[in-house]
Amino acid sequence: MQNVTRLCHTKSIVTVNGKFPGPRVVAREGDRLLIKVTNHVPNNITIHWHGIRQLRSGWADGPAYITQCPIQTGQSYVYNFTVVGQRGTFFWHAHISWLRSTLYGPLIILPKKNVAYPFKKPYKEIPVVFGEWFNADTEAIISQALQTGGGPNVSDAYTINGLPGPLYNCSAKDTFKLRVKPRKTYLLRMINAALNDELFFSIANHSLTVMDVDGIYVKPFETNTILITPGQTTNVLLKTKPNFPSATFLMTARPYVTGQGTFDNSTVAGILEYESPFHSITPLKKLPLYKPVLPPLNETSFATNFTKKLRSLATPQFPANVLQEVEKHFFFTVGLGTSPCDQNKTCQGPNGTKFAASVSNISFVQPTTALLQAHFMGQSSGVCSPDFPFNPLHWFNYTGNPPNNTMVGNGTKLMVLPFNTSVELIMQDTSILGTESHPLHLHGFNFFVVGQGFGNYDPNEDPKNFNLVDPIERNTVGVPSGGWVAIRFLADNPGVWFMHCHLEVHTSWGLKMAWLVLDGKLPNQKLLPPPADLPKC
Ligand code: C2O
Repeated sequence: MQNVTRLCHTKSIVTVNGKFPGPRVVAREGDRLLIKVTNHVPNNITIHWHGIRQLRSGWADGPAYITQCPIQTGQSYVYNFTVVGQRGTFFWHAHISWLRSTLYGPLIILPKKNVAYPFKKPYKEIPVVFGEWFNADTEAIISQALQTGGGPNVSDAYTINGLPGPLYNCSAKDTFKLRVKPRKTYLLRMINAALNDELFFSIANHSLTVMDVDGIYVKPFETNTILITPGQTTNVLLKTKPNFPSATFLMTARPYVTGQGTFDNSTVAGILEYESPFHSITPLKKLPLYKPVLPPLNETSFATNFTKKLRSLATPQFPANVLQEVEKHFFFTVGLGTSPCDQNKTCQGPNGTKFAASVSNISFVQPTTALLQAHFMGQSSGVCSPDFPFNPLHWFNYTGNPPNNTMVGNGTKLMVLPFNTSVELIMQDTSILGTESHPLHLHGFNFFVVGQGFGNYDPNEDPKNFNLVDPIERNTVGVPSGGWVAIRFLADNPGVWFMHCHLEVHTSWGLKMAWLVLDGKLPNQKLLPPPADLPKC
């Protein structure tokens, strides 16, 4: 535990090696990583390597009670995995309860030695990690919310590399400063590690060129503003001005919000400042300060246009191996709902119920033992069931007037896939408690985003417009507010793989499920055996 002060408020937080945000992990494509995590805090801990596929090494994936039991106080576990065929910006974070509010850091995978980026080598590379700061203890916030059935308290600030910046009380000294030279190209490795908010980001008077998302190169495009959801990463090139400008520039981020609930409506700012050859003559603080203009809070049209611009390179070197044929089609709904209040309690959710969230109306119940272990040992019965439905059990007008019955069911259900199944999954947002954009994250795979739209998905018409040529490949996609998204992936990674909304509050309410991908026939198509130090529940 470490005492950390932000917004003039000191609290004791869980950290890795005493650092907040946590240390940067840098490796190369093809490297094998061995990371020993020793738990010196009272909480149970797991760490997830967000975006790393963990081919056959699901034991190192990290979500608590899905692939492993937590590391208990005093115990250690070595995360042991090889980065196969991936390079780019990723991050690591705690994957239990709300501990990732302080336990997160960049995970940067460089290309193999002697392999260049498909663009000119930048002058410098800078991680830009967005987070959320809560003055209160986040574990207390979520446990109280789950007990009362209400919404959890929102954060007090957004942060860039752990720093709230000058727009918050007593935080001017806690400001991220990017000092640049004129006429250079900087690669900003942006990561949204915030708990509950999608963010717009912009730098005054500078445009950004998007180069890759979630570790996949894209056709470069220029933009003034980035939209980044929790769980997404975006690499941009920043070209600095040709001459020393007589100004300093703010960079700001604040939320994109489509839901009805309360949220932290504040703005984090950092400073872009030019190192001047005339530094001593013109002190920087005398220079005028320019501020960027961000889209309005609920600007879904920006979100739509921004995501439409994301295209894979689809070149021989970086092909888009989108599945032209699909063996299994799935249609899941995602959204909020309610569940009954426990007896003898007054719940603070809608109409005296508890808030809940679900996939296909099933709110995921976290098991007390890890699903991957249970599966491997042949002890799944009583822990989970292999009967996650292909389609939601009831059809209704998903994006029309809310249905009368807002109650969700619950269970620990898995969708089972034979090895190498080609999958198409439609995820449809519902309006049961208002529409909302949900950043859905899939563990163990990248997927291609072949389509998206608003209203109810039409299985006869919408597939005609799918992009099977250069769709973006990624691991976290925003299901549009009041709309749907279509993704495709090949189930070539045996194991149990979590899929959930990366808004932590929705995960806590149950917007999550898991896929079980069975072993293939060949020896190199099977899940590796568990490591000896795998924690026990
Ligand atoms: Cu970064 Cu399961 O998540």
